[in-house]
Amino acid sequence: MAELSVEVLTGPDLAPAIPELSRLRVTVFREFPYLYVGDAAYEARYLRSYLEAPDSLVVLVKDGEKVVGASSALPLKDEQAELQAPWQDNGPDVSTVWYLAESVLLPGYRGRGLGVRFFEERERRGRELGYDTASFCAVQRPDNHPRRPTGHGPLDEFWKKCGYTRHPELIARLSWREPDEEAESPKDMVFWTKRL
Ligand SMILES: CC(C)(COP(=O)(O)OP(=O)(O)OC[C@H]1O[C@@H](n2cnc3c(N)ncnc32)[C@H](O)[C@@H]1OP(=O)(O)O)[C@@H](O)C(=O)NCCC(=O)NCCS
Repeated sequence: MAELSVEVLTGPDLAPAIPELSRLRVTVFREFPYLYVGDAAYEARYLRSYLEAPDSLVVLVKDGEKVVGASSALPLKDEQAELQAPWQDNGPDVSTVWYLAESVLLPGYRGRGLGVRFFEERERRGRELGYDTASFCAVQRPDNHPRRPTGHGPLDEFWKKCGYTRHPELIARLSWREPDEEAESPKDMVFWTKRL
């Protein structure tokens, strides 16, 4: 394995990384708990926010020239309406929130601190830009979900250790198609927050 490198991309430098981000999303989110059957139209729609938001950021992990992990962040006000909706009644002003979108790392590269690094890089940028709150959301799955692999636990303890608090009152509904579904259906995504 060549040495791993971490690159932080913003502004116009970010656009060339979008296809890699999409490729990793489709590969990693195909697994439990997301079970996302990626499709090009969904990806193009979802990733457009990153290209249009002037302050968006992508962190890439490379093994030599190969991109093996990616993580992203952008102002919540520049995200899709479904992610802003739960904040209108229950949360702080959307314009104060720095939204941490996905963290995706190929399985062979997990457990060596890159997940922590993803948080550090994204939080640093949110602080520099003057945001008060960092937030992300995670899909909710029942303990007895038929596709849960044996021994698969949630990342909740990791997120708590990184300083995040879960907000069961802040739930977004995002739709995508799972392998057992004919069409997209809505999934509950619970938000977590941390003061920056
Ligand atoms: C989330 C993800 C990027 C974390 O990457 P990672 O590099 O393995 O994370 P780290 O090595 O920094 O681990 C951080 C801590 O979380 C713990 N952890 C990692 N995966 C875990 C899991 N599945 N269950 C419980 N704890 C876990 C590690 O043990 C470590 O704890 P420690 O510091 O006490 O040893 C990676 O697991 C991943 O790509 N998962 C699939 C996609 C996903 O669910 N992303 C999050 C929502 S977008």
